[in-house]
Amino acid sequence: MRGSYAPVTEEVEAFDLRVVGALPDGLNGTHVRNGANPKHGPTSHWFAGDGMLHGLRVSDGRAEWYRNRWVRTKALDGVNRMDMSTGTFDRTVGLANTHVVRHAGRILALEEGSFPNEVSPELDTIGPCDFDGRLRTPFTAHPHTCPETGEMHFFGYELVQAPFVTYHVVDRDGTLVHTQPIEVGGPTMVHDFAISRNYAIFLDLPLVFDLDLAISGGMPFEWRPSYGARIGLLRRDGSGAAPRWFDVPLCYVFHIMNAWDDGADGRYVWLDAGRHASMWDGGPHKFEPSLMHRWRFDLHTGEVHEETFDDVSHAFPRIDDRRAGLSNRFGWAVAPRDPSDTSMEAPTGIVKYDLATGSRTFHDFGATSLSGEPVFVPRSTDAGEDDGYLVTYVLDKATESSTFVVLDAADMSSPPLAVVPLPQRVPLGFHGSWFADE
Ligand SMILES: [Fe+2]
Repeated sequence: MRGSYAPVTEEVEAFDLRVVGALPDGLNGTHVRNGANPKHGPTSHWFAGDGMLHGLRVSDGRAEWYRNRWVRTKALDGVNRMDMSTGTFDRTVGLANTHVVRHAGRILALEEGSFPNEVSPELDTIGPCDFDGRLRTPFTAHPHTCPETGEMHFFGYELVQAPFVTYHVVDRDGTLVHTQPIEVGGPTMVHDFAISRNYAIFLDLPLVFDLDLAISGGMPFEWRPSYGARIGLLRRDGSGAAPRWFDVPLCYVFHIMNAWDDGADGRYVWLDAGRHASMWDGGPHKFEPSLMHRWRFDLHTGEVHEETFDDVSHAFPRIDDRRAGLSNRFGWAVAPRDPSDTSMEAPTGIVKYDLATGSRTFHDFGATSLSGEPVFVPRSTDAGEDDGYLVTYVLDKATESSTFVVLDAADMSSPPLAVVPLPQRVPLGFHGSWFADE
């Protein structure tokens, strides 16, 4: 809760903000980012604060408004999600602090232990969303929408009783149409998963839930190498009742960059993600760096080939979401300005990976700035893969001030196209989205 992570205490709004540079023609929509912003004092971990949304609306070259709003969850009112006497969880209670996505007209603030909380385009809370009673499990903070079918694929994970992982699909119209238990070895933290054209890809990794840690009130997961590590490929067409599992060397993954396969009769499935050699080994504040890593699963031989392809740590990898589940050439992530600086407040910029050439380029926001997650916005619906913009919030820790920044996604070396100074500091947070005007 210190420095760049310190919460803000006020909900503010401002209209017609000053723009340095020019907001691009055709960039009409709202950038919304979620993060942990505890309202009632210190929490046990960065991940445990109340969700707060920061929105910046752009319309016809104007920065129309900025506002920040806590998600009005039951947790914000002090309701505990776990009934200690029965060991059961109330899925309508959650922090709603991790991500915010839009699907079939609904904007959902997400946190992986509960149902989504729906919010309005102006960031007012509507309430928990259980898809007309069809959702009976928590909802991950990282759903993935298939650009070919419009379906939103997601999962939920449970900690007390099996099935510990359940896979779901919501169709393009917002109806939950498929729910399928996934058998895993026990209750673990499963932060993200992936889809390819033909598979849903599950990570079964050794960050294991521990009830004693939960009762003590701390982060209830421990690194347990004896659990093993494996990655499972489940056919999306329903032809397999269970994933085909591939054992892999011990690791942890918070964030997928993308996955893809060779097509209907393909031999290989690829997965690119940030790989940690371990997670919270020795306590919930011990991190190994996240290094960009590629797994290749051979469906003929059952073999896995894997390699790390960047030696600089990164956070929050993103792609052009129109390539989700399809092969992508480009990816972007937050990376340190000085690769040797591993402190929590290391100045950061945005790295761009060109997976075709193996090159990486870097946008530097300056010696005291920390970048938020880069969200890609295509210039138009039929624009090429990196033909568009990156939008994010950037925090200058020297001045304790924040800006909304628009970069040319194709040209990382140029200065920002537009910078919008914000009326208050936006603390470092988690994930966000661009909601284009429809
Ligand atoms: Fe995440």
